[in-house]
Amino acid sequence: MKDQIVKAFDQHFGGQGTLFVAPGRFNLIGEHTDYNGGFVFPGAIDKFIMADIRPNGTNRVRLYSADLNESAEFGLREEDAPEQAWARYVFGVCREVIKRGGKVEGFDAVFGGNVPLGAGLSSSAALESCFANAINDLFNGNTIDKFELAKIGQSTEHNYCGVNCGIMDQFASVFGKKDHLMRLDCRSMEYEYFPFNIEGYKLVLLDSKVKHALVDSPYNKRRQSCERVAEKLGVETLRDATMEMLNAIKSDISAEDYFRAKYVIEEKQRVLDVCEALQAGDLETVGQKMYETHDGLSKDYEVSCEELDYLNEIAHECGVSGSRIMGGGFGGCTVNLVKNDLYDNFIKTATEKFNARYGHEPKVYPVIVSDGARRYEDQ
Ligand code: GLA
Repeated sequence: MKDQIVKAFDQHFGGQGTLFVAPGRFNLIGEHTDYNGGFVFPGAIDKFIMADIRPNGTNRVRLYSADLNESAEFGLREEDAPEQAWARYVFGVCREVIKRGGKVEGFDAVFGGNVPLGAGLSSSAALESCFANAINDLFNGNTIDKFELAKIGQSTEHNYCGVNCGIMDQFASVFGKKDHLMRLDCRSMEYEYFPFNIEGYKLVLLDSKVKHALVDSPYNKRRQSCERVAEKLGVETLRDATMEMLNAIKSDISAEDYFRAKYVIEEKQRVLDVCEALQAGDLETVGQKMYETHDGLSKDYEVSCEELDYLNEIAHECGVSGSRIMGGGFGGCTVNLVKNDLYDNFIKTATEKFNARYGHEPKVYPVIVSDGARRYEDQ
């Protein structure tokens, strides 16, 4: 990918810039908990966005997307927002840095990547983190702290892309560490690295290739349900709610809101249980909790779809230890925890059965846990 990006930069702008990369993420457990002040447990993956960037001495940004073969150009004032949806991610990052008192000057950039789009692996967070980190490096002497970089990406989603997302994706893309997962408390923003040690097992993502676009999706509606229930309970977020509290107001809220909140309250505890099980080397419990999360996301939170439920069912039949929808839902991937000796059979069975029913094979991505946003250096 590097050669392609560098070559495209030379063709479009002449010469060379500086290369930056930022990864997509996977999440072991803790879904739809981030915007409820709960816990998440993600890691960065080995799929990333790469950008070649060079200040151009003007106050305009010129971009070329190598994957889309499209260009965009914009200024740095609020009214300069570009038309193209993809360019708004970069524009948003620039604006959010400026709003925080950071410095952004004009630059030329070429970018591309291998994070599959709409697969729930946070390609947009990778793009935001890549540019936020680059702008911090090139124009701000790396004085913006890493949490602020993640928040710049999150605010970009809120203010320029129409997704009222939590902090998990941008956090994972910025803070990722090779061979480590991170448990983040989304209320206090305290986090801890956990060595990613699953000896005897493999983690694999199966991409249903059902496209999800969180913009215009019911994602924002899920968040609204949670906020309504929290308000009714008089707590800041559902992090502070218990099932007893929820049951006490059951007759005052809609059945839909009740089940959304129930899922969130249960998921909060599952993340803690999984961390404990992981530390004790008890991967069967980790897997069991993953199945419970899938059920909750499918039946109570209703962010699954037929294809993802089918992949989950096949995993169960093949004796896979844990399997669940990953990310925002409405399509994308399942994440599967599989014993080594069952792995080949699972992949073969899932591929064949899924293909027989839906006419295309799921994509298989073994999880390789990688570093977060950084300057690219040849390995
Ligand atoms: C999307 C959002 C995240 C998070 C997940 C669900 O990826 O961007 O903030 O809410 O969905 O866990």
